[in-house]
Amino acid sequence: MSYKLKSPVFDLILCISDAVDSISPQLADHHRRTAYLAYQLGRQFGLPVARCKELAIAAALHDIGATALKERLNLLNFDTKVSADHNAVYAAHNAVYATHNEVSAVHAEVGYLLISNYPAFALAAEIVRFHHVNWNDGAGKLNMGLSVPVESHILHLAERVAVQIDPRKEVLSQVRSITNRVKRKSGDDFMPEVVDAFLRLAEKDFIWFDMVSPSADIALWNDLDWDVISLEGAEFLELSRFFCRLVDFKSPFTATHSSRVAVCGQALAELSGFSMLDQRLISLCGYLHDIGKLCVPLEILDKPAALSTEESAVMRHHAYYTNHILKRIGVFENVRVWSSYHHERLDGSGYPYQLKGEELTTGSRIIAIADVFTAVSEDRPYRSARNDIDVMDVMNDMARKGLLDARLIKLLGSRVHEINALMAEAEFSASRDYQEFIDRRTRYMDFVRAGE
Ligand SMILES: [Fe+2]
Ligand SMILES: [Fe+2]
Ligand SMILES: [Fe+2]
Repeated sequence: MSYKLKSPVFDLILCISDAVDSISPQLADHHRRTAYLAYQLGRQFGLPVARCKELAIAAALHDIGATALKERLNLLNFDTKVSADHNAVYAAHNAVYATHNEVSAVHAEVGYLLISNYPAFALAAEIVRFHHVNWNDGAGKLNMGLSVPVESHILHLAERVAVQIDPRKEVLSQVRSITNRVKRKSGDDFMPEVVDAFLRLAEKDFIWFDMVSPSADIALWNDLDWDVISLEGAEFLELSRFFCRLVDFKSPFTATHSSRVAVCGQALAELSGFSMLDQRLISLCGYLHDIGKLCVPLEILDKPAALSTEESAVMRHHAYYTNHILKRIGVFENVRVWSSYHHERLDGSGYPYQLKGEELTTGSRIIAIADVFTAVSEDRPYRSARNDIDVMDVMNDMARKGLLDARLIKLLGSRVHEINALMAEAEFSASRDYQEFIDRRTRYMDFVRAGE
């Protein structure tokens, strides 16, 4: 089987964290910086290298559960306890969480739910789960009756330090005020032994230089011997589904989108005479084609009205990021090409590469059709789904206008009921997964609210 993925685990993780940090310049490198400091702090604290690596993985993913830009920016506040006024402002601007405390607690739980979906990241998920638990004179050893790993307390401090660094100013001039703030929170927010380790580490200039240097982390990660994730066949599919959930679960409108595109694309590939291997690759493309949406904030994905010019530019960026991320992950070339061109149109009116005609191979054309066919039959924040007949009308119209491949659309039309049935099956299992995720998030939010 030739569809393999071979990548050092940390490279894979950094692809995700760089993507989620690119939703705003204010967040640039936040995960990288936190991962670097968490790793160094873990070592200074005396943890063995293997545990520090898990800590670095957790740190590089820690805020993956915060998908709205407002949530992410809110988490940049150093003080975890904020005033009632601040909470009132927060509630007025955010439909999901009512208070700052809720964002802190819930995004960590959501991160845990998302990350623990992939067995290789189970330990990292536990660390992420408790990364906002305060030490509270030792009460923070436990949370919800579960023991909080010491790595979570290390990550908590590393992350609170990372948010205080202003990369526009000279870094060493900021050290004293940062360490003073941390010292004041020792025992209250932070575990005292972790604070002590941090203060020892903070005396070393290079730690600070590394944190603001774009290449420092590369030096650190290259020195470490990371496990290489080597996957093929079903295992690779499982990782792709993990990526797909990170994207699709951001919004109820897209919760089952990629799974349906995968099934529709695979059916079209089979009808087009693709080999078994290529059919599987097309299915992978379904799961991965919108991975670039990690870079699009929830406010835009879920906007219940037409997007402004600027917002649609951000949205259009996602196909470009898909290409960028898949290139970095190092997936099979066809998977990258077929996935990344899903918004290109045969007449050159698509984006972001404005390719046309023969520049678009059958694989890319299939994913483009599967994507439109799936999207048209889904609810969107600004419109409801169309019925089967409408959907084929839309597809035929796009073929007539020379936007999508007419021959493939004819094939789709000839088997539309069968394909719809397959897609409904995929939707059933994806929405069951999504519902379980939402139920767990709701239960957790109720728990947090009850404790406030
Ligand atoms: Fe966080
Ligand atoms: Fe897309
Ligand atoms: Fe899509």
